[in-house]
Amino acid sequence: MELELVEGDITTQDVDAIVNAANNSLLGGGGVDGAIHRAGGPEILAACRHLRATTLPNGLATGEAVATTGGTLNARYVIHTAGPVWDPAEDRSGLLISAYRNSIRVAVSLGVGSIAFPAISAGVYGWPLADAARIAVRTVRDAAPPFPVRFVMFNRPAAEAFHAALAP
Ligand code: APR
Repeated sequence: MELELVEGDITTQDVDAIVNAANNSLLGGGGVDGAIHRAGGPEILAACRHLRATTLPNGLATGEAVATTGGTLNARYVIHTAGPVWDPAEDRSGLLISAYRNSIRVAVSLGVGSIAFPAISAGVYGWPLADAARIAVRTVRDAAPPFPVRFVMFNRPAAEAFHAALAP
């Protein structure tokens, strides 16, 4: 399984599925969530609303993942996952691990040929970058998915944290 790291905008990546660091409402937000909805267009939010009206009436539980259309993105699918909010008083790393694992599980079920991840929980949700990167890389390596995985970092500090986590 190939692991790749790029510094850039996940919405422009030419992969089959991009992972969205969504929230429990599944109805959009800021950060990469906002960028994906802006770039992918209203189809994505319509699909999220349909999920809320049918299979996910209470929203997306933290650590879970669900796919929608990619709308006008290059990617065919967006896999939405809700990472945990960082809490120095409580170890929520199991939920962050689940967010990566479940995103991969959904991608495997869709038969994608490639996937891109942002740094889940490492923005608004406040997860320290070095630990977020360590958990991301270790979880993806352990899952050993049958397709290449690209980590797309939006800024230099995140890229450096993931570069360090990927070092052999
Ligand atoms: N491409 C790649 N990465 C991006 C992009 C982008 N276009 N925009 C932001 N990022 C990066 C951030 O710099 C950060 O490193 O994604 C990482 C995750 O940050 P957030 O998007 O803030 O996600 P998160 O910390 O998981 O918080 C989720 O933020 O946007 C809201 O609706 C979202 O409530 C949810 C919360």
